Parts: sequence; C-alpha cells; structure tokens
Amino acid sequence: MSKQQRVLSGIQSSGKLTIGNYIGAMKNFVALQHEHDCYFMIADLHAITVPQEPAALREQTESVAALYVAAGLDPSQAAIFIQSHVPAHAELGWLLTTMSYMGELERMTQFKDKSEGKEAVGAGLFVYPALMASDILLYNPTLVPVGDDQKQHLELTRDLAGRFNHRYGDTFVIPDPFIPKQGARIMSLEEGTKKMSKSSPSAGSYISMLDTPDEIRKKISRAKTDMGREVVYDVQNKPEVSNLMTIYGQCSGKTVEEVQAAYEGQGYGAFKKDLAEVVVAALEPMQRIYSDVRSSGEIHRILRDGAERANAVAEQTLAKAKEAMGFLPLKR
Ligand code: TYM
Repeated sequence: MSKQQRVLSGIQSSGKLTIGNYIGAMKNFVALQHEHDCYFMIADLHAITVPQEPAALREQTESVAALYVAAGLDPSQAAIFIQSHVPAHAELGWLLTTMSYMGELERMTQFKDKSEGKEAVGAGLFVYPALMASDILLYNPTLVPVGDDQKQHLELTRDLAGRFNHRYGDTFVIPDPFIPKQGARIMSLEEGTKKMSKSSPSAGSYISMLDTPDEIRKKISRAKTDMGREVVYDVQNKPEVSNLMTIYGQCSGKTVEEVQAAYEGQGYGAFKKDLAEVVVAALEPMQRIYSDVRSSGEIHRILRDGAERANAVAEQTLAKAKEAMGFLPLKR
C-alpha cells in the first residue's frame, strides 16, 4: 500500500525527554508511521541555541534517537535521523533567515519566554524559527505532528513557504500542523498553568521518559492538586487535576470522561496512586527497549540509514530552492 501523506517532525536533543514530549509528539509519530511516509529527526542544531556541553550534547542526541525506537518508531517504516547529518538543514535555514522579518521573529512567544530576564541572548535563539521552517520545508510534508507550543512556529513556516513560492515560483508545499485534541499541552506537576518542560530546573515538575518507577511514584504523589477532592475534568477551575487526568487517559488509552467516571466518589489519593502505576506501566516497556537499543549499538545503523534517506530528499529540495533564488550552479 502506498503511503498517503508525507510527515515530518522533530524533537530537540536538549536535556531529558518528558512525558509531555511523549504524549504531545512522539506518541503521534508512532501512530502516523504506518499510513504515511514519515521523517522524524533529532534536532541537535536547535539544541545549541542555548549553550551545550559537547559530551552532554552527544549523549542526549543518541538518547533521543534511542527513545524514538523505544517508543515504537520502526526504522523500516519511518526515517529516523539526526538534523546535523543532513547539511541541507543549515543551508536552507540561512536562505530562509534572509527572508524572515525581525518583527515576525520578535513575536514568537517561545523566543520571548526563553530570552526573558537574560542578559545575553544568543542570535541563534532569535533566528531559530527559520531553521525550523527549513527542517520542515526540505521534505515537502503535508502534515507536521507537534504539541500546542509549536503552533506559532508552524504558522511562520507556512508564511515563509508562501512568501518564497510567491517570490520565486512554486517550490514548497504548505504544511498543516497535526495537533492532538488531547495531550497537546501537558502541564507542570508543580504549577498547573505552566507547560511541562525538559529544561525546567525543578525535576519534580516533570516526569522524564527515563525516570525509575520509584521516581515516578514520588513525583506523582507530590504533584500539586487543586482545592476540593473530586476527580473532575475542568480545565478552567481544576487545571492541575485535569492535567493529571489527561496524563492518565493518554497513558492508558482511556478518554478523560472514562477516567472521571472510574473515580467518581473517590478522592485524589486513590486516583494518584493508580495514575503512578499507569505511567509506570506505559514507560517501563519503553525503558527496557531503550536499554537494549543503547547497549547493542544498533542505533548507529538506524541513523546511517535514516540520514541517507533524509539526505536524498533534502538535497533535491535545496537544489530546487537555490535554483529558484538565482544561485549560479557549479558547471562541470
Ligand atoms: P521540543 O523539542 O521543545 O518538543 C518536541 C515536541 O514535543 C512537544 N511538547 C509537548 N507536547 C505536549 N505537552 C508538553 N508539555 C510538551 N512539551 C513539548 C512539542 O510541541 C514538540 O512537538 N522546535 C521544536 C523542535 C523542532 C521541530 C522541527 C518540530 C525542530 N524542527 C520541525 C517539528 C518540525 C521544539 O523545540 O520542540
């Protein structure tokens, strides 16, 4: 059966991946791989928009790749590759940077959040959305599965693609975001109004995909809960409990309505105890595969193959874009 649509997405290799990355993004990568022609990258060029220690960057990059496989991505279905193994990303990134306006980059909420209160803000952090647009447009995908926080970057990508096509002729496909209805924004365990983030200084605010069962149990038992004691899904008035119910639903395959019905008349204590076990049961099998993939060295073969497949597509699109823009080709 031929695959229906082209799909591309990526996750930065900065720090540990959280259950938010899993629920908001990776779980959907896995779901899409059988029906669509998928490219999933590990965005290491994005990770260096904030300082990274070289050994840590290498470790995190390999770790995210192994987590892709552990979560269920099948390298015979989807191309799994490292962004820096495909030089076209940086090159098209520059071309699209020259087509981006300061004003539109200044409006990016992620830039505002990450630069807030900092004395020295790297220029890479500012131009990052143009690199992200190049990551996407090189593969001409129609669908880009992401969590809610990447929506604005996707809109900019669409604007840049439209601007390029308008100025230089049809070159890029305008992609649509694929944002899940449930789980697109998993919140911090300590503050129900803040997104769960792998760069948070407080480890109690997130569950890492590699946390041990005991760490998971401890974090969930300490997770903040709203006033009252009923397990009711109400994002406005009970954001913290609603977030925990979303995690429960996403890790067990239940809807939040089913979760609510199951805990009717019971307090937070019983619910949190079960939630911890549901999360442990979802992560434990992945952690086992993760260890196997890391110790076997198999990941390097997967990444070589992924880079080959990704380069083949990306080089073609880059050549087309450069020709359209008027770069003099090297004649033999
Ligand atoms: P990143 O690395 O911050 O996050 C990777 C993916 O995980 C989603 N996500 C979440 N979803 C739900 N709840 C959360 N708490 C949560 N935290 C993170 C993100 O929305 C994202 O889908 N710029 C991107 C990486 C990137 C990319 C791309 C994505 C680079 N190039 C091309 C798509 C296409 C980023 O920083 O995501």
